[in-house]
Amino acid sequence: MADRPRVFVSRVLPGGDSPDSPIGRLRAATDLDLWDGGDPPPAEVLRERLAQADGVLTMLTERIDVALLDAAPHLRVVSNLAVGFDNIDVPACTERGVLVTNTPGVLDETTADMAFALLLAAARRLPEAERAIREGAWGQWHPTWMLGHQVTGATLGIVGPGRIASAVARRAQGFGMKVLYHGRREVPGFPGERATLPELLAASDFISVHVPLNAETAGMCNADFFAAMKQSAIFVNTARGPVVDQDALIEALRSGQIAGAALDVMTPEPLPADHPLLTAPHLVVAPHLGSATEETRARMAHLAVSGLLGVLAGDTPATVLNPEAAAIHRSAR
Ligand code: GLV
Ligand code: GLV
Repeated sequence: MADRPRVFVSRVLPGGDSPDSPIGRLRAATDLDLWDGGDPPPAEVLRERLAQADGVLTMLTERIDVALLDAAPHLRVVSNLAVGFDNIDVPACTERGVLVTNTPGVLDETTADMAFALLLAAARRLPEAERAIREGAWGQWHPTWMLGHQVTGATLGIVGPGRIASAVARRAQGFGMKVLYHGRREVPGFPGERATLPELLAASDFISVHVPLNAETAGMCNADFFAAMKQSAIFVNTARGPVVDQDALIEALRSGQIAGAALDVMTPEPLPADHPLLTAPHLVVAPHLGSATEETRARMAHLAVSGLLGVLAGDTPATVLNPEAAAIHRSAR
């Protein structure tokens, strides 16, 4: 057999290490360099480990930018263990003939479960209510204590009608909710009605964001966005932290401009325990757990490994984001 490709993997993958596990499959087919730290490899380590690598399997914590690509002359594939790929400079990869793959499809339902869990938790004030018990603040049953917001029959506004959003909308239908969506184009078959952003913000009791992070969406949930929401409405974000102007969100919660927010993503991640965001009222937070189930993370790891091994074998798997890069050959190779 010819030399096995060198592959750097930036974290221990879910699914164990039996021969048919994601790691087992990599061991069988590659010369595997596995970073087994709990934290991401520091930038210098990543650069050093990629100097000889043919492929890399990254997390959303690794930034793959021009400087790193230029220090990785043999690299042919970046496989991201996530559906989002804002951590990767895809055009720079394309220019250098590096294929980029991600993990679409396998995490939609799981992430939609999380968005709905957050929506319900914020609507019914569950974290706050649980804290009340633990802090001894639960008095006698009172008809006006700890009242939340009705989910059943309410209007859900979805911003960014992709696959995860569609799974959220189906859950909403089960709760008898009216679903509105806003996106650049009409999405045939989307379980909801298309609306302009101003219409959606004015009409929705819950707003859930599902846009990818890019130059167009960064900071799109800003002071104007929150000011256009109903005062009784709750904002949910399971997409990416930087789509929100977080200071504007804190202010909207403090001033009562909106009724609450539930976030699985924020800025920065990890969020320090003394961050001002956590002083905002009516806020539910989770530490970026959208796809975090045993089953889904194992599927993601298998898909990421298949994408990586497929490219190294000379194929262009369906998960490749920049198939045009396959036609570009790096002079150094
Ligand atoms: C997680 O945030 C992902 O993009 O898969
Ligand atoms: C509440 O517990 C009720 O019985 O209405």
